[in-house]
Amino acid sequence: MTAGDAAADGEALVGGMLNAGAVFRRGALVERPAPRTARALHTHLLALREHGFDEAPMPVGLTADRREHLTFIPGDVALPPFPRWVMTQSALRSVGGLLRRLHEASAAITVDTGVEWPRDLSDPEGGTMLCHNDVCPENVVFRDGHAAALIDFDLAAPGRPLWDVAMTARYWVPMLDPRSATAFYPTGLDAPTRLRILADSYGLSPQDRADLPGAIEQATASCRAFVAGRVADGDPGYTQALAERGGWQRWDRMQEWLAAHHEMFTAALLN
Ligand SMILES: Nc1ncnc2c1ncn2[C@@H]1O[C@H](COP(=O)(O)OP(=O)(O)O)[C@@H](O)[C@H]1O
Ligand SMILES: [Mg+2]
Repeated sequence: MTAGDAAADGEALVGGMLNAGAVFRRGALVERPAPRTARALHTHLLALREHGFDEAPMPVGLTADRREHLTFIPGDVALPPFPRWVMTQSALRSVGGLLRRLHEASAAITVDTGVEWPRDLSDPEGGTMLCHNDVCPENVVFRDGHAAALIDFDLAAPGRPLWDVAMTARYWVPMLDPRSATAFYPTGLDAPTRLRILADSYGLSPQDRADLPGAIEQATASCRAFVAGRVADGDPGYTQALAERGGWQRWDRMQEWLAAHHEMFTAALLN
């Protein structure tokens, strides 16, 4: 079945950029392009469930033309510009808890080292646990104002748990300079306070708290390199988004802001 055929009897789901226009709901199932690692990811999703984590889609099948079927998770997924309900402190707390539960299950699963996991947004320092790497609002399903499930494991790769916390902080605090944040987030979000809430709700260790601001800077550099790669490949979605959002100047500004406030974030996490 082609994406066009799927569109004929399914509802297009919008949210991400990587598979934009190619994700469809068909009743209780989602049909989307299968990532290169789909087979290993399906095994991982089943293992997560065996280890008590049931807040992710269940794999249902792979088609001969490289599409995958997963269970559809009912609820609300926020899209940018993000509404206030998804950026409340209790919503943020629930995201920290969800990530912690994912990691507790994930840490108990042996990563298949024979798989070529994507390097796009993975931890440059590597690790022994499969991280999600893309815990953005578009990949979290909410019910009653609380994070109920994580979806879209396409970029999952081995890394340190801290790396996933850093990526999650980028999107959920968000760890963006105020000018960049106002484009997609409600006003009045206090970054140090929210970073602390995320760390507390995740249950981050003192050592990881000390390392988190640096990991966020590293993760931001990885995200910039990811966008640069897509743009260099001529990806129209990423090229247009980069131009509309203020080009590389915006990335410079975000990185300068993080570096300038490094000590402030460390203090907010540790004191
Ligand atoms: N299993 C699922 N359950 C509920 N909603 C889903 C599911 N999979 C995808 N969606 C919806 O479709 C959108 C796009 O799907 P996603 O797999 O994240 O695509 P992309 O790889 O382009 O980010 C998501 O933001 C979400 O709203
Ligand atoms: Mg997505």
